[in-house]
Amino acid sequence: MRPVNKPVADRQSLLADLENSAHVWFLETDGVTDPAVLESCVQLLSADEADRYRRFRFDADRHVFLLSHAMLRQVLSRYADIDPSDWQFSRSTHGRPEIAQPDPGMSLRFNLTHTRGLAACLVTQTLDCGVDAEALVMRRHAMGIAERMFAEQELQLLRDLEGPDWQDEFINLWTLREAYCKACGTGLANSGRHFHFERDREGGWQIRFTGSSAAASDWHLSVERVVDSHKVAVAVHIADRSAFSLRTRQFSF
Ligand SMILES: CC(C)(COP(=O)(O)OP(=O)(O)OC[C@H]1O[C@@H](n2cnc3c(N)ncnc32)[C@H](O)[C@@H]1OP(=O)(O)O)[C@@H](O)C(=O)NCCC(=O)NCCS
Repeated sequence: MRPVNKPVADRQSLLADLENSAHVWFLETDGVTDPAVLESCVQLLSADEADRYRRFRFDADRHVFLLSHAMLRQVLSRYADIDPSDWQFSRSTHGRPEIAQPDPGMSLRFNLTHTRGLAACLVTQTLDCGVDAEALVMRRHAMGIAERMFAEQELQLLRDLEGPDWQDEFINLWTLREAYCKACGTGLANSGRHFHFERDREGGWQIRFTGSSAAASDWHLSVERVVDSHKVAVAVHIADRSAFSLRTRQFSF
């Protein structure tokens, strides 16, 4: 495994770059099979994470859980001089994890997503943020999910589409909804029809709340096909959308 604590110069440039941006780190989990790497990942887990890791019913889910949590710990240690195994996390009442200890010396925020084949974590300084990854396959109950969860304006977008185009737009809207709700910290408990996602003039995404004549200007929202098989949506609450950028990096152990 490569050294986890990067040289200080790397850390400083990463931190400087984080000032007006957010970083997405992603990992294709099926490609990580080296037993030595997997064992070193297990060693990074907290007792609670190790307990969850052992309790998965399917190997595929256990594998992704392990790699996503080991990646998160290593990613955070690229921003702060803290050993990856030392991070301790607290959970809000809705389950959102935040750094509890040790103090990284800055307000480092993150959000994690893991699904079979892909793990991704999003890192910001201070900013509320959420990330969601989905495989580009048709969900069995996609139509039902859309009817139950989407706003009328989003259903209208889908009505004009069929086949792969329908599936693609469904994934865009679904991952954006999850990323936004995770950024709010509530998870899907905050979902509803009081907001919807729509394209902006540049072909990107924006959120509009019911009763508001204009789209909200304080959310960065994007969906990226980071690998052939998966899309990743990101939501970051920011003061000024125009001054913000998102950087996507591939992680490797
Ligand atoms: C939190 C939630 C959005 C996660 O979505 P998901 O697509 O299943 O899973 P993801 O892989 O994208 O994200 C999971 C990670 O998000 C983070 N997370 C958990 N709760 C969170 C919250 N309230 N806000 C932000 N992030 C959260 C955790 O890091 C979690 O991984 P971990 O438990 O291994 O540490 C979703 O499970 C949820 O809202 N649950 C609440 C129950 C609910 O309303 N269910 C309705 C289903 S239709």
